[in-house]
Amino acid sequence: MSKEKSWTILELLEWTTEHFAQRGIEAARLDAECLLAHALGTKRLQLYVDFEKTPEIEERARFRELVVRRATERVPVSQLIGKKEFWSLELDVSGDVLSPRPETETLVEAALARLPDPRGQYRILDLGTGSGAIALALSSERSEALVTATDISPEALQIASSNADKLHLSERLRFLEGDLLGAVPGEQFDLVVSNPPYVARRDAESLPPELAHEPEVALYGGEDGFAVASRLVAEVRGALVPEGAFAIEIAPDQAERVAEECRKAGLEEIEILQDLARRPRVVAARKPAEPARDERK
Ligand SMILES: C[S@@+](CC[C@H](N)C(=O)[O-])C[C@H]1O[C@@H](n2cnc3c(N)ncnc32)[C@H](O)[C@@H]1O
Repeated sequence: MSKEKSWTILELLEWTTEHFAQRGIEAARLDAECLLAHALGTKRLQLYVDFEKTPEIEERARFRELVVRRATERVPVSQLIGKKEFWSLELDVSGDVLSPRPETETLVEAALARLPDPRGQYRILDLGTGSGAIALALSSERSEALVTATDISPEALQIASSNADKLHLSERLRFLEGDLLGAVPGEQFDLVVSNPPYVARRDAESLPPELAHEPEVALYGGEDGFAVASRLVAEVRGALVPEGAFAIEIAPDQAERVAEECRKAGLEEIEILQDLARRPRVVAARKPAEPARDERK
């Protein structure tokens, strides 16, 4: 991208798309559009209206800086622009939180299907809330629910809580710091939902370079990926009311084992749900209505 030539928006997009594609960036055109829109302070679709316009020198300098960071450092677009859309909500993100992924919307759908009344006064727990994505999506859909969002990372909780303020959802949300259910001792919920860290540390070498910019605590579930999920499944029954629902996001190859762990933990109605790419993505289950025989003794 020479500094002398006066580039139109269309030329900048075409050059950058090619540049990103050559460096193995998958969504090259989309990334170029998002970064250019950000540098120009406009919406992505406006670029199409303004194809023949020539950005100012400062705008081009801002864009060039973003392009370099995307192409060479492989910083994710969401972190470069500080925003990520999830469930039609615009969330602030940074290097302190996992940028929410589209596949996590499968978990939100599974949760909502188990809380069918839009005005229900459900008590909901989102463990490992990160940017607040799941908790905020559920709160936006179930306006009477009381949502508790927890994380082990205080930095993440700050971002989640600020997102709640910006979306005017703070009133029925509370944010608590702690290790899994240790954040809510003795409490019970109608729904417990979680997208825990589930990447296996032994796979770290083969991961896309973008993941190096996301917090390790949000990614790795120990050596085999199950450390946090298995601990949660083993404990979750105590945090559910009778017939309370549980839904957890997993990596596709973890579904069978996590479903089996749910069975062993005394949960029932166990289902494995697929994401839009038809990969197993969520294990859902329910606490039995009656105490099990060994609990009555
Ligand atoms: C995969 S990210 C999910 C973030 C967000 N819920 C989403 O779906 O985009 C996992 C989150 O769990 C948090 N976490 C990791 N270990 C935890 C633990 N033991 N207790 C509570 N939160 C934990 C991380 O800080 C991170 O925010």
